[in-house]
Amino acid sequence: MRFTSTMLASAAILGSANAALKGFNYGAFFLNDAAKQQADFEYEFNAAKQLAGTSAAFTSARLYTMIQHGTTNTVIEAIQAAINTKTQLLLGMWASAGSDNFNNEITALKAAISQYGTSFTDLVVGISVGSEDLYRITPTGIANQAGAGAQPSELINYVAQTRAAIQGTGLAGKPIGHVDTWTAYVNGSNAGVISALDFLGVDAYPYWETTTANSIGNANASFYDAYQQTVAAAQGKAVWVTETGWPVTGPTENQAVANADNAKIYWQDVSCSLMKNNVNLFYYTLQDAQYGTPVPSFGIKPAGDLLAVDALFDLTCPN
Ligand SMILES: *[C@@H]1O[C@H](CO)[C@@H](O)[C@H](O)[C@H]1NC(C)=O
Ligand SMILES: *[C@@H]1O[C@H](CO)[C@@H](O)[C@H](O)[C@H]1NC(C)=O
Repeated sequence: MRFTSTMLASAAILGSANAALKGFNYGAFFLNDAAKQQADFEYEFNAAKQLAGTSAAFTSARLYTMIQHGTTNTVIEAIQAAINTKTQLLLGMWASAGSDNFNNEITALKAAISQYGTSFTDLVVGISVGSEDLYRITPTGIANQAGAGAQPSELINYVAQTRAAIQGTGLAGKPIGHVDTWTAYVNGSNAGVISALDFLGVDAYPYWETTTANSIGNANASFYDAYQQTVAAAQGKAVWVTETGWPVTGPTENQAVANADNAKIYWQDVSCSLMKNNVNLFYYTLQDAQYGTPVPSFGIKPAGDLLAVDALFDLTCPN
């Protein structure tokens, strides 16, 4: 195999060619609706890499949108921050705000390619078209007031638009996926979406499984049940874990108690086993929104302290 400079650069970032991705999820705005700026993304990306106790650095970031919060279609400042910090990107295209908004996502995606060239495209490990859009249109999503979603036919259309947009660009050949809950993937009405994808991103939270036994003692089994059901529905495509986590504070949900001790158990059982088995993992999350504490809060480090890179619990994996 002939090595190109791009391949060498990627290998250096990954550590080894086969290493699974390890990252966190990064929203586009704070709890007070203020947009995250480049410096805010850089701070978080650097903090993720410096976390004490992680055996391998968390050098990947999952985004939810290509659009800078509060603008129509300006490229999100996370892109420049990722370039500056050499952070790999699972890009997100928001797919639950109608086709005009999706066109703006495509505009921002194309703008990023032409503005930043290979310094951007070399960092991209995948593109997710949508996030939990199918969950939000289910009876459960509606009952939970989860907000607007998207129909399977819309998502299939958006995936095709995204494939067309990256054709002949530096992003050509990057895998295109979708992120949703395991319940969306096992629903046969969504099989056409799965067929259109290169990979499935699954979000699974035993904490929220309030209709089944969901104590921390059952969390590992609950997570792996969701993961295996997704794998079974995946038509042979790769399954990435795009969100999972256990809250450090918040209300008790059925048998699930939110505290740092339980988050540590969840990390050691679920996160560590996924990393050991080379499954791509984007944990939810590094730090919860600044300017207020979400309820519940899933952040493994306190938000906003520019010096704190210590997690609220020990991130060391058992042997
Ligand atoms: C199954 O998927 C379809 C299409 O996404 C959706 O309309 C329906 O509500 C889902 N059913 C359940 C039980 O979630
Ligand atoms: C978690 O579940 C997986 C899959 O069943 C299993 O292989 C693993 O041993 C479990 N881990 C713990 C700590 O129970």
